[in-house]
Amino acid sequence: MATVFDFNNKTVVVIGGTSGINRSIAESFAAAGARVAVASRSQDKVDDTVTALESAGAQTAMGIAFDVRDAMAVAEGFAAIQEAYGEIDVLVSGAAGNFPALAADMSVNAFKTVIDIDLMGTIHVMKAAYPHLKRPGASIINISAPQSYLPYEGQAHVCAAKAGVDQITRTLSMEWGLEGIRVNSVVPGFIDGTEGAKRLAPSPEVLKGLTRSIPLGRLGACEDVANACLFLSSDQASYISGTVLAVDGALYQRGSGSTGEMMGHMLRAASASKK
Ligand code: HXC
Ligand code: NAP
Repeated sequence: MATVFDFNNKTVVVIGGTSGINRSIAESFAAAGARVAVASRSQDKVDDTVTALESAGAQTAMGIAFDVRDAMAVAEGFAAIQEAYGEIDVLVSGAAGNFPALAADMSVNAFKTVIDIDLMGTIHVMKAAYPHLKRPGASIINISAPQSYLPYEGQAHVCAAKAGVDQITRTLSMEWGLEGIRVNSVVPGFIDGTEGAKRLAPSPEVLKGLTRSIPLGRLGACEDVANACLFLSSDQASYISGTVLAVDGALYQRGSGSTGEMMGHMLRAASASKK
């Protein structure tokens, strides 16, 4: 994979980096020569990703299995990464969970599960990484979603969680700015072939309608998101902090309108057929 950015001798950590968009981000930093550490719940996915990162060109690669809901395990994981690779230059925090469900049909625990993974997971990761970040110079990227600022039917849990993630980004860019730590969010639009897109567009018809609603006329690719992360973590972006960068084919300009409505209609029909 050709890259215009050089992350040789830099330590990059990607939390939730073992599938989909985040794995592609990890592989792109590997191709740019970084030392890359990934973490997620499944040891098998971690092992498979470490092998792929080595093949992609990483200076070296490691992985740890933990659940971002377990603050203690996250802190232990970061201590192990620091011991192996030293200070962290780049942190990408992207572990997340999602399922479409109307709020009325969701248990309180279902709502809380997404808050615990996406929102509490983000603060667990940020706080555990903090003592190990390079000062000055570290770049943190939280992987958010359009749900942060666009309300979608069937996504109350994700909307609440990702809005919180972006407010953590904005707040910590101020709290940590004087130490030379930059904090940004990247918002992928609908990204082709990913678990997230499969869950939100479960049929070819929904996928077609969704694609039509994107002004650039196509779903995004994982590499589109990874390229933005490489740029935001490079020296060329050294004055960019506290920003929420959409990589969404201008999806935001059109709002959640037809996609949200389609999802709401589908979920209401499913809910009615159960009654
Ligand atoms: C209603 C549901 C549900 C569903 C689970 N629950 N799925 N409720 N509809 N479809 C409820 C369960 O009944 C349970 O509540 C609670 O949620 C917790 O479920 P568990 O299965 O015990 O949770 P867990 O094993 O921790 O798994 C978490 C998960 C799972 C989020 C439910 O799907 C997961 O691990 N996802 C990770 C992968 C993923 O989601 N990737 C997509 C990310 S995309 P009760 O009351 O029964 O105990 C993304 C944004 C995409 O984040 C944006 C696209 C634009
Ligand atoms: P994905 O393939 O399901 O990736 C999720 C990753 O997070 C996996 O590596 C998963 O590995 C890990 N993970 C999940 N729960 C975890 C937990 N509790 N603790 C630790 N790790 C956990 O999803 P994706 O669709 O590529 O989405 C990746 C990111 O992009 C997410 O932040 C999502 O919100 C965002 N996003 C996606 C889209 C899209 O179109 N796909 C759009 C907007 C935003 P394990 O299963 O091993 O834990």
